[in-house]
Formats: sequence, structure tokens, C-alpha cells
Amino acid sequence: MPILNIITYPNPKLRQKAKNVETAQFSQKEFQNFLRDFVKTMQAKDGIGLAAPQVSQSIRVIAVSTKNSAMILINPKIISKSWRKNLAEEGCLSFPDIYGLVKRHNKIKVTSYDKNGKKIKLKCDGLFARVIQHEIDHLDGILFIDKMKKITKGAELLKGKKDAE
Ligand code: NI
Repeated sequence: MPILNIITYPNPKLRQKAKNVETAQFSQKEFQNFLRDFVKTMQAKDGIGLAAPQVSQSIRVIAVSTKNSAMILINPKIISKSWRKNLAEEGCLSFPDIYGLVKRHNKIKVTSYDKNGKKIKLKCDGLFARVIQHEIDHLDGILFIDKMKKITKGAELLKGKKDAE
């Protein structure tokens, strides 16, 4: 079971808008194998979340770690968000050793497909809500440095790195 390669900033693939997964794809073996490797990769790298563009797949798939395992969300959509936001420290596997403070909505509601193609609806708060907002941003080519209020660790690692013109 291969661990997938995680690309790092400023790889331009991180800026692409990812495409929806077609429902016909859900049952394909290749896609299911990808999902399995994708989750394995997140777990192997000790991530609490991962988005498919980070492994060079421009499709709307994210994984979020849960207490005992991981949840896969396909074509996730935020359908409502709390007015209240909170500021907390985030990291990202595409920005090794870089951390910063990002404001996120306290609570969100999300619709999505699970890995079997079943439509699901989730109410999220706390860290779970934060991770999902971070990962869905990845699907739109939005990175946490775009929203960072303050860099808390690794500022020197980001120096001289920027998006291609
Ligand atoms: Ni990230």
C-alpha cells in the first residue's frame, strides 16, 4: 500500500481549483484504492487532515482524522457557517514546520458524499470544523498562508517562497 507523495508550497498544483468527483467513479476500484492510500498517507504523516490536491490529485476529496480512524468527504460543501469565528494555530503538511494563527468559523454544516457515494450531512464544531474549513480551502486553491493573521513558527522557512507569476 503506497504512501503518496505530498507536494509542498509553492508547487502550483496547490493553487488549482479541484474538480468534483463524478458519482460513477465511486465504485471504481482505482478510485477506492486511491482513497485507501490517501488516508494511509495522512495517517503516516500524522496529519489531522489532508486534501487530494496535496497529493497531486485535482479532485474534491478530503480526509479528516477522527478519534479512532478517518473520515473521507467527497465533493464537500459548506452549507452554513456560524457568524462567530475563532483564532487558533494551524499547520499544513504542504508547509512543513510552519505554523500560524488563522481565523475560522466556530461551527459549520457540511454536505458531502462518503466513500461509498452515500450523501451525508455533518454538523461540525471545534477542531473538526477548523480542519474541514482548512481542507475545503485546499480544494479551491486557497492556502492557510492566505488567511494567516500571524505566523507563529517557521517564518524563516517561508522566506523567498512565493507563487509563480
Ligand atoms: Ni493544509
